[in-house]
Amino acid sequence: MSTAKKEYKRITIKTLIDMKSKGEKISMLTAYDYTMAKILDNAGVDIILVGDSASNVMAGHETTLPITLNEMIYHASSVVRAIDRCLVVVDLPFGTYQSDPKEALRSAIRIMKESGGHAVKLEGGKEVKDSIKRILNAGIPVMGHLGLTPQSIYKFGTYTVRAKEEEEAEQLKRDALMLEKTGCFAIVLEKVPAKLAEEVAKSVQIPIIGIGAGSGVDGQVLVTHDMLGMTHEFNPRFLRRYLDMYHEMTNAFENYINDVKSGDFPNEKEQY
Ligand code: KIV
Repeated sequence: MSTAKKEYKRITIKTLIDMKSKGEKISMLTAYDYTMAKILDNAGVDIILVGDSASNVMAGHETTLPITLNEMIYHASSVVRAIDRCLVVVDLPFGTYQSDPKEALRSAIRIMKESGGHAVKLEGGKEVKDSIKRILNAGIPVMGHLGLTPQSIYKFGTYTVRAKEEEEAEQLKRDALMLEKTGCFAIVLEKVPAKLAEEVAKSVQIPIIGIGAGSGVDGQVLVTHDMLGMTHEFNPRFLRRYLDMYHEMTNAFENYINDVKSGDFPNEKEQY
C-alpha cells in the first residue's frame, strides 16, 4: 500500500497543495474505465486523469484530436463510479474550449454534471486564459497543461521535447505564473528539460505534475497502459515500464486458444 493512502482518506485540491508545501510527491495515472480505476484507487494513486490519450489508447486514433466530449464523459463517468479516494481530473477534448470562453464553460459544466468528475484539465497558456477564468468563476477547478500539448501536434509537427530554446522556455515560465495567478490548482508539464521544469516548480505554490519533465517537480503522471507495458511501440526515454503486460497477455491468450483447440479447457472441475 502506498504511504499517501494511509495518511489521506480522500484527496482534495487542498490535499494536493498541502502535499506540495510538505514536499510530498503526488502520483497521477490515467484511467478510462471502471476496472482500471478501481485497481488504481485501491492502490492509493492520488489523482486519476481521464486523459484525452483515451483517443490513442482506447480508440486507436493517431492523435488526441478526434475524441469527443460525449466520449470523454462516458470514460469519466465509468472512472468516477469506481473511486472512493482519489481526485478525478477530466481532460477537456480538442475543440471544446478553444473557440470562446462560453463554450469552454458549457463543456466543463457538461463534464462535471454528467460524469461526476472533480476537475477539468485543458492545454495551453495565455491563449486560453479567458476560458480558464470563466470555468473557475463557475466553481470548477482547473488543471493547466504546458510544454508538449498533444492537441497542438499539427502546430508543433513532432512529439519532441519542448522549450529547449530560451524564448519558448521564458514564455512557458510566464504561462505557469499566469495559470497560478488565474487560479489553476495544478499544472501538468509535459516533455520539457528537467532544469526548466524544476525552476517552474520552484516559482509557483501550486503542484507541477511532470511527464518527461524530470524529478525536480511535485509529482509524476504516466499513461497507465504505457507503464504497464500494454503498449509496446511507444518507447520515449521518460517511460518506466513496471510490467510487460503486452507479452504477459499475449502468453495468456495463446495458452487459452491452445487449451480451447486441444479440448483441455474446460476440464471436469470447470463445468456443471
Ligand atoms: O491525456 C493524457 O493522458 C495526458 C497525460 C499524458 C498528461 O494529458
